[in-house]
Amino acid sequence: MAATIASGLTIIISFTVLINVIAADNCIIGNFNLTLLEQFSPWKTVDSLNGTIYEINLCSKLKSTNCPDGTAVCAQSKNSTISVSYGNYSSAPSNEKTPFGTDGELLLTFKGQPCGSDKYYSTIFYFKCGKTLGYPKYQGENEICTVQFEWESYLFCQKLPTPDKEVPCAVVKDGSLIDLTPLIKLTGGYSVDSENDQTQILINVCRDITIDATVTDDTKDCVKGSSACKVVNKSVSDNGRPKTGLQATSEGVRLVYTSTIRPPSCIMDPSTTINFYCPKRGGVSNFQNFLGIKVR
Ligand SMILES: *[C@@H]1O[C@H](CO)[C@@H](O)[C@H](O)[C@H]1NC(C)=O
Ligand SMILES: *[C@@H]1O[C@H](CO)[C@@H](O)[C@H](O)[C@H]1NC(C)=O
Ligand SMILES: *[C@@H]1O[C@H](CO)[C@@H](O)[C@H](O)[C@H]1NC(C)=O
Ligand SMILES: *[C@@H]1O[C@H](CO)[C@@H](O)[C@H](O)[C@H]1NC(C)=O
Ligand SMILES: *[C@@H]1O[C@H](CO)[C@@H](O)[C@H](O)[C@H]1NC(C)=O
Repeated sequence: MAATIASGLTIIISFTVLINVIAADNCIIGNFNLTLLEQFSPWKTVDSLNGTIYEINLCSKLKSTNCPDGTAVCAQSKNSTISVSYGNYSSAPSNEKTPFGTDGELLLTFKGQPCGSDKYYSTIFYFKCGKTLGYPKYQGENEICTVQFEWESYLFCQKLPTPDKEVPCAVVKDGSLIDLTPLIKLTGGYSVDSENDQTQILINVCRDITIDATVTDDTKDCVKGSSACKVVNKSVSDNGRPKTGLQATSEGVRLVYTSTIRPPSCIMDPSTTINFYCPKRGGVSNFQNFLGIKVR
């Protein structure tokens, strides 16, 4: 049985083609190949207590920030126009790999601008095994001038099946983090309520619909690697794959999937846009309770 997302999520099947160029420079740190993470640079995350926004590149310096040239971790405080480098780009950030069970862990330290006379503003990344691509989660100030992030990602697991494609699923919007990673299905997907009985749309959030022996619902026939799958009269087609991560929009957040596999009946490449927004009731914005789907 396909789980059905119930109420605040709109699916629009449209015919636009997005062209995204993603830099694919290799990013190898210690024994880990972090190229898949570096491809989505800059990562943006927020210290939700302070409202400080951090921009992060792991393997290159940030472009166009207010931090000094050469910065890899840039902190922009909420109430200040001053940005501080919490880590300069280094081709060899100090790292310490600690074996942990069968999975790898990585502790990475970046040092930035001077803090006082004898310290540097610094960032510690603690990478470990997680089910999704993950994102840098702010953990607090670990000592004076030093902030710590935890980043759980499947790139640090050895035994977990890896997706064909996953994109960042958390985004900073209006100073807070909207995290849809709990919606990512590791296998299978969601069946979208459709107004058209002839057409069934199946999706996953931020990741392709992975099919294994445990998947027995309608997603089991989806095209390998697709994140949106369309079934018309038992004929299944690829209706898109993600290129970029979750994006903030004026109303909420959005995912766009595009396909280069064009069915004969289409004049352009298929694409699926998923708009997530907060239900307009209650008043308090809560993206954990957003849900609902429309197809048009
Ligand atoms: C690192 O990962 C990227 C993306 O998966 C891949 O294209 C590249 O070949 C890998 N590099 C090495 C040295 O394994
Ligand atoms: C807010 O940021 C400042 C400067 O980095 C830091 O000293 C302070 O501990 C932070 N406060 C909280 C609640 O994280
Ligand atoms: C930022 O400014 C707001 C209002 O202008 C204030 O309430 C808040 O305490 C300030 N935060 C910090 C960290 O200074
Ligand atoms: C980082 O770069 C700044 C200048 O942008 C420099 O003042 C600082 O010393 C550098 N930090 C380290 C640890 O080299
Ligand atoms: C689905 O198949 C039926 C019978 O084969 C046909 O009459 C109908 O037009 C088809 N619908 C679409 C949307 O292709």
